[in-house]
Amino acid sequence: MRIIGIETSCDETGIAVYAPGEGILAQQLHSQIKLHADYGGVVPELASRDHISRITGLIDRCLQQAGLEKSAIDGVAYTAGPGLVGALLVGVSVGRSLAYAWNCPAIAVNHMEAHLLAVMLEEQAPEPPFVALLVSGGHTQLVLVKAVGEYELLGESQDDAAGEAFDKTAKLLGLGYPGGPQLSALAQQGRSDVHHFPRPMTGKPGLDFSFSGLKTAVALAIAGLDEDEQARADLACGFVDAVVDTLAIKCERALEATGVNQLVAAGGVSANVQLRQRLQDMTRARGGQVFYPRPDYCTDNGAMIAYAGYVKLQRQTGEPLSFGARPRWPITA
Ligand code: KG4
Ligand code: ZN
Repeated sequence: MRIIGIETSCDETGIAVYAPGEGILAQQLHSQIKLHADYGGVVPELASRDHISRITGLIDRCLQQAGLEKSAIDGVAYTAGPGLVGALLVGVSVGRSLAYAWNCPAIAVNHMEAHLLAVMLEEQAPEPPFVALLVSGGHTQLVLVKAVGEYELLGESQDDAAGEAFDKTAKLLGLGYPGGPQLSALAQQGRSDVHHFPRPMTGKPGLDFSFSGLKTAVALAIAGLDEDEQARADLACGFVDAVVDTLAIKCERALEATGVNQLVAAGGVSANVQLRQRLQDMTRARGGQVFYPRPDYCTDNGAMIAYAGYVKLQRQTGEPLSFGARPRWPITA
């Protein structure tokens, strides 16, 4: 069986083919970073148009790379949500049209579930139950994975997502879009004892997050600062420490509350080296284990959609021909 996956929920057009037992046979990824860089963030209309102009070429190239005819494809998986509605609709309509033309099932994939399942493509993969920390540009969630497909939302951000906080703070520090990786690199030049920013919502019980206050704390700190490189690096370091600490504290709390000792971190921010190290230390100290997708599978990609599509196809047989995008699609629904 071979499933092609199509990702167009935000600013990456990702295509991949997955085959059980063999893994990812081929993948193509086009990032729109350059397109949006001048605007300091994703411009939804530009994103949709760019997906349209790239998608069929990338699908052709992916099939070619895998050495497959289209008749060899047994299912077409596409991200149906959550994400930008115009961008989603490109993948939804192309995915469903191809499935119709190729006479195979069309599989609507939840982007956050795909992030969560990406870790299963690694040699070191956990067996449920485990707790998953999903940290992307639009979402920060803690999910109890009782079984693949059976999820309980334990907590989520009440305002900005962790990735959003990274991007907004990076902008305050004059770094380009997307800010996460650049802010993380700058933080490595900084000193961790200069700033101590709040660890939001860690002082009271619960597993929800709030990150919007952190960027305000950084903005206030910037106002009273010299514009030299070391000062910016120190600020970046203080910010990253605060986010990483907050995420780690909540993860540990979620492990304690559920009695589970395996943690998965997934989504763009889980590529962050400081977070990976911190979660590693925290789980080790508890005698547990943390699992990550490889960095390329933490950020948006077609491989996780192809794999999640395969998993979903095991549970159902295709979908009715009416279609839609779900810009807000809870992982538990
Ligand atoms: O999962 P993702 O690629 O897209 C969404 O589904 O949103 O996540 C993108 C987010 C962006 O906010 C980006 O700045 C952040 O992930 N990100 C990082 C790193 N790499 C990507 N944040 C911190 N450190 C990184 N190394
Ligand atoms: Zn994503």
